[in-house]
Amino acid sequence: MSQRKILVTNALPYANGDIHLGHVMEAIQTDIWVRLQKMRGHQCIYVCADDAHGTAIMLSAESLGITPEEHINQVKREHERDYDGFLIGFDNFHTTHSDENRELSESIYLALERNGHIARRNIRQLFDPEKNLFLADRYITGACPRCKAEGQYGDNCEICGSTHSPAELIDPKSALSGATPVEKESEHFFFTVSAFTEMLREWIHGGAVHDAVANKLGEWLKEGLQDWDISRDGPYFGFEIPGHPGKYFYVWLDAPIGYMASFLNYCKRERLDFDAWWRPEGDCELYHFIGKDIVNFHTIFWPAMLESAGYRKPDSVFVHGFVTVDGTKMSKSRGTFINASTYLNHLNPEYLRYYLAAKLGPGVEDLDLNLDDFVQRVNSDLVGKLVNIASRCAGFIGKNFDGMLAAEVDNPALIKEIQQASSEVAALFEAREYGKALRQIMALADKANQYLNERKPWEIAKSDRQSPELQQICTTGINAFRLLAGYLKPVLPAMVANAEEFLAIEPLRWRDFDSLLLDHRINRFQPLMTRVEPAAVQAMVEESRESWNRRQDGVETEPKMEAIEEIAEEIDISAFAKVDLRVARVAEAGLVEGADKLLRLRLDLGVDDEGNPVERTVFAGIRSAYKPEELKDKLLVVVANLKPRKMKFGVSEGMILAAGPGGSDIWVLHPDTGARPGMRIS
Ligand code: MSP
Ligand code: ZN
Repeated sequence: MSQRKILVTNALPYANGDIHLGHVMEAIQTDIWVRLQKMRGHQCIYVCADDAHGTAIMLSAESLGITPEEHINQVKREHERDYDGFLIGFDNFHTTHSDENRELSESIYLALERNGHIARRNIRQLFDPEKNLFLADRYITGACPRCKAEGQYGDNCEICGSTHSPAELIDPKSALSGATPVEKESEHFFFTVSAFTEMLREWIHGGAVHDAVANKLGEWLKEGLQDWDISRDGPYFGFEIPGHPGKYFYVWLDAPIGYMASFLNYCKRERLDFDAWWRPEGDCELYHFIGKDIVNFHTIFWPAMLESAGYRKPDSVFVHGFVTVDGTKMSKSRGTFINASTYLNHLNPEYLRYYLAAKLGPGVEDLDLNLDDFVQRVNSDLVGKLVNIASRCAGFIGKNFDGMLAAEVDNPALIKEIQQASSEVAALFEAREYGKALRQIMALADKANQYLNERKPWEIAKSDRQSPELQQICTTGINAFRLLAGYLKPVLPAMVANAEEFLAIEPLRWRDFDSLLLDHRINRFQPLMTRVEPAAVQAMVEESRESWNRRQDGVETEPKMEAIEEIAEEIDISAFAKVDLRVARVAEAGLVEGADKLLRLRLDLGVDDEGNPVERTVFAGIRSAYKPEELKDKLLVVVANLKPRKMKFGVSEGMILAAGPGGSDIWVLHPDTGARPGMRIS
């Protein structure tokens, strides 16, 4: 097979926020693919950068009292540290605020201008007269023109769903200064992207994107492409447009050029021919991994810019869905908006690499990190199946045979079967069918374990410590482990590096799977992976929640416009009426041994029509806010008809209503006098 030349990127994270599990998922998806290509012997270069420009970054630097440059440098260090923590093997991590990016952005812009693809016209926009800047929609707040709800941002109402122009808000205010914005006119520069409609149609339907994405884009093309506004007025943190002082490139113009710039920076260091990789007729491949929210920038504007400026277009743009945690959008108050660094404070990065890989496919569906399933899956697959194969054999080889593997395996058929899977496993990784690849690998791991269960080396060892049969069985196990671990190396690079050390072998390449490890001395076995502790997962969630509470309390500053948690699917009144809410008196409250968040509450709901007491036992996660004795005799509201749920500590027969951000701020509602237990809330 001839060596391919492949350039790969993932989306450039904004330099004004922390790396979180969404970014991490994208990087893991990309990194697995890149590591596979490298193991297959291809020249694969993986570059990224921080996306450092824009108003938001300018404003956060201002509120921190530092320059934007200082701000982005500091953030870049944190981003690199976080990606590194997840073993993301970038060949280069640059910034869009770089000389390379300025040069390339200017030259690409000038090409667009030369080719007649830049139009200029005046537009009217809201302007903050105190801050002296034009306000993007999200910086304007006011009451909704339709339902009059206060505090709505920009061009849509979160309460009634109305869409309108920000100028139509009642009593609009600048979210930055509180000043009343005024309309002001200024000249903007537009990229006339509709000139590329035909080219884009061909490119999109020529396999550059997944079918689901191609269909969506096809609709956009049919509706007709609008000119794209690529300029912003100063003050703006970005690059000035050559020849037009006071006008800046919109951040999304120079952001994708940042891919090229990071690569150019790499080429200078590694003495590579940049042009050869970006010429339209070259034999290099180019792939971008991105999330579903930024598809238009990568599949409309970006290829059109490249085309106009005479560069190659991407071979494919691989689009993924969003990470959810326990079935819902990541939520700061629930502690499921998890930053990369918070995760790393508690858990091994390879747990997440494995778990996400097991759920990843080539499509755009969202991907759920279910925290219970995460613990379960990682423990059962990695510890229970994969590492188990090695740990069941390594001791005998080490102690009874002085580390020497036999010259033959005991079960060549099993080993052959595992070896034969190598090309299919590679093909699945290449097609981004990681979940399928991992299932196949684990099915083979099951077979290897089953084989050991049948041959029982531990029984043989009891009767004959040094039987050749024992050595050959364990050699079979060790070889099965070597192959399976090798297949997982793109996913688990650090664990497999330790396995290579234990096996006393060179770093595994894909072609090594043709051969076996025989007549070879291995090193002493060290546990390669420990179990995920559910307590560590809990601690991570707790830390995420607390860091959010801290920011809420103003210890750390954070832009004020935190979006509320997404409102759940609409229900009609009859569904709501099914929820039977009752006043209840806390008859008894106690701690729950082994659960430091829960209280056990015995609730008194009065008596039924035959005079029998109606009671519920409920486990409520409010121990951080209430001592049991404080709750005794308090009145609160309980969902009285919730189906009993078996929990680890007993059956919970209802749920109490409480509100608050968490920690010590959780409030149970206790109606004033006049309420009596059992009373229905309606
Ligand atoms: N700076 C732009 C990208 C410029 S690329 C030339 C940007 N930055 S971002 O930080 O908001 O997002 C970076 C990537 O992370 C995007 O691909 C985005 O889709 C992805 N994700 C952000 N949140 C995500 C999840 N919750 N889940 C999965 N990926 C998500 O957009
Ligand atoms: Zn409204």
